[in-house]
Amino acid sequence: MENTKKRIFSGIQPSGNLTIGNYLGALRNWVQLQDDYECIYCVVNMHAITVRQDPAVLRRRSLETMAIFLACGISPEKSILFIQSHIPEHTMLNWVMCCNTYMGEAQRMTQFKDKSARHADNINTGLFTYPVLMASDILLYQADLVPVGADQKQHIELTRDLCTRFNNTYGETFVLPEPYIPKIGARIMSLQEPQKTMSKSDPNPNAFICILDEPDVIVRKLKRAVTDSEGVIAYDPDNRAGVSNLLSIYAACTGKSMDQSVKDFEGQGYGSLKNTVADVVVDTLSPIQAEYNRIISDKEYLSKVIEEGDRKASAIAQRTMRKVYHKVGLDSK
Ligand code: TRP
Repeated sequence: MENTKKRIFSGIQPSGNLTIGNYLGALRNWVQLQDDYECIYCVVNMHAITVRQDPAVLRRRSLETMAIFLACGISPEKSILFIQSHIPEHTMLNWVMCCNTYMGEAQRMTQFKDKSARHADNINTGLFTYPVLMASDILLYQADLVPVGADQKQHIELTRDLCTRFNNTYGETFVLPEPYIPKIGARIMSLQEPQKTMSKSDPNPNAFICILDEPDVIVRKLKRAVTDSEGVIAYDPDNRAGVSNLLSIYAACTGKSMDQSVKDFEGQGYGSLKNTVADVVVDTLSPIQAEYNRIISDKEYLSKVIEEGDRKASAIAQRTMRKVYHKVGLDSK
């Protein structure tokens, strides 16, 4: 039978050490999606340079991010895994899409506003067109579904607008993608400011737990996690963000319901909550870390996986780009 599976595209930036938020909120779902969809997963290193990066660190982190994908259970036999900058079609489509995006549309993006406030000394035009590059990633592969966190929904909306505009102007070219917000999959918050999403680029390293953190580091960061002075363990994310976040991490790592998770801590204090959460986080991460260490020390295997993924991604990207250049009149036929 023909391949009738829907296609999924998603990407993660290699701009820091991936956190348990990336794992519990995204990567773990990516692994599950592999059986029901044709999945394409990308290390989006070109998005990373919208903020200043150390070249050697960026190069290393792109490989490490790929090794983490593999260690988490993303399989190069089932999915296409590749590195964005290896496929020049991303920049080609990006330019065409930039010429079909209005200033006002890009100006409305809340992530642009946030990031320009945080990097006031480097508000570059790449930061401004970041969502257009993201749209190009998605449209280039004709993706049906894009699994993203809630913070990226606005970018998917823009992608859909650009897609529809292009198809209307030049004729049917791109598949109209939809956001895919998984039913399971937790939104993990900062351990220091639990009103904010846990982020790998947080300046305070105590705010996040990395997938590759050693057990003693995990224990220490959780001991320092912000709670409150109520002293009772209950799930109430609006008013008791810190304690609720610890419960979410517990539920996500154990697969238990929130009701059951709260019951598990009945009559206990914050100290034992933090210890138990540390235990389940360590248990969740240690098999991934072992696998990561194996893969990162096998450079030959890692480059073979990347080469193979690049080759498959390139075939799809070239097909779309030929179509786009023809529609726009940039080819010479
Ligand atoms: N902007 C996304 C994020 O920060 C990363 C990303 C880039 C992406 N290109 C993408 C996600 C394409 C999904 C699809 O999370």
